[in-house]
Amino acid sequence: MTEILTPTDAGIVRAGELLAAGALVAFGTETVYGLGADASQGAAVAAIYAAKGRPQFNPLIAHYPSASAAFADVCADVRAEKLAAKFWPGPLTLVLPIAPACRVHELARAGLSTLAVRVPKGEALQALLRAAGRPIAAPSANRSGHVSPTEAAHVLADLDGKIAALLDTGRCEVGLESSVLDLTSPMPVLLRPGAITRDALQAEIGEIALAGAGSSVRAPGMLASHYAPSLKLRLCAEQVAQDEALLAFGPPLAGAALVFQLSETGNLAEAAQNLFAGLRWLDCKGEEAGVQTIAAMPVPDSGLGAAINDRLRRAAAG
Ligand code: TXA
Ligand code: MG
Repeated sequence: MTEILTPTDAGIVRAGELLAAGALVAFGTETVYGLGADASQGAAVAAIYAAKGRPQFNPLIAHYPSASAAFADVCADVRAEKLAAKFWPGPLTLVLPIAPACRVHELARAGLSTLAVRVPKGEALQALLRAAGRPIAAPSANRSGHVSPTEAAHVLADLDGKIAALLDTGRCEVGLESSVLDLTSPMPVLLRPGAITRDALQAEIGEIALAGAGSSVRAPGMLASHYAPSLKLRLCAEQVAQDEALLAFGPPLAGAALVFQLSETGNLAEAAQNLFAGLRWLDCKGEEAGVQTIAAMPVPDSGLGAAINDRLRRAAAG
């Protein structure tokens, strides 16, 4: 049985005790729900991979309550300091070389000499990370390859009974995973687009390259097929068939068997927040209705749209 905890003092203390004991605790962040474990305990980290069914070559992000805590485990340069000051706590992950005294277990880093670190937003989560006093490794709290969870119910649908506890902090504010920026070479590389856009990052540290074809080696989690619903997904739909479900953005195309609206008014932040819940909902209702395909209306590629389209492309590749 998975224990459901509320973000009260008692709930946070309990979650902290479980983490210290090496157990798995899922919690909400501003991006998506994470599946947390003490990153310094090899067995606890191994349990994350087992619960998710995740390929072990995929490294995890370590979460901290502050930049100074994060920078104890990695070698931060001027660029990292600048970005941390501007965007932390917030939906940005930095990949940096590990520090000699790095506490994060090799298994969480998938044997790499680099580490992804992040300081997430959220009062309850911050309190939990402070109480833990350890780096907390946390991938998204879904079965490997499945759509990321943005509500407590999504976590339970994938992992109930497989994890010790779930800290229910409500719906996630952003709805898409953090932007991942690799700072291990002179030219920074955006490995995963997210709510902190490339433009916003470039305004702080100058030119940033986009992850190219070779990036699957550097960010093994960025497999083409990821975030996959079980129904087929058709992108940039300009019409919809009667036997299709529609993922609408703005005024919906007429004629679909089933409609999920990302944002009636075409608001990208609202669409990002709704995206994964929508894919999960259509997957579940579509199967009941005998639908085989989700037709997704086009979303503009500006701002947050780049991250939304990235996730849609991956979901379509699954
Ligand atoms: O918003 C988020 O980042 C959420 C919440 C829970 O914090 N976490 C998340 O974790 O999305 P996950 O494991 O689903 O994605 C982590 C991504 C993967 O694509 C992984 O390959 C990449 O970060 N990554 C982790 N460590 C890395 C490293 N040392 N070098 C390059 N990429 C790394
Ligand atoms: Mg994930």
